[in-house]
Amino acid sequence: MLLITICVGSSCSLRGSDELASELFRLIEKENLEGLVDIVGAFCMDACSKGVSVRVGEREFSGIRPEQAQAFFYSEVVPRIKTKIAPRNTDKSPATPPCGKEGPS
Ligand code: FES
Repeated sequence: MLLITICVGSSCSLRGSDELASELFRLIEKENLEGLVDIVGAFCMDACSKGVSVRVGEREFSGIRPEQAQAFFYSEVVPRIKTKIAPRNTDKSPATPPCGKEGPS
């Protein structure tokens, strides 16, 4: 699961961390990504002067404004979610039967 941490400290709250979180939740639902990404709050992430601080996985961002939520989501969140999804087996051939059980001949 990809974790998004949004600072809810006083400075980031004044700059719209609640609105940013709400919009990111809405986008996660819109894209049916529940269960693949989660959002948690954190107190001061030591970048107060730059705007809302956000961590996506291990990468930290600062100065994110609520009105940038959609662009941020599609450029920084979605690609990281996709890299965490294991590749699916697209092989359409039938499963190999157990050894010695080839079926009637
Ligand atoms: S209050 Fe958010 S980084 Fe300090």
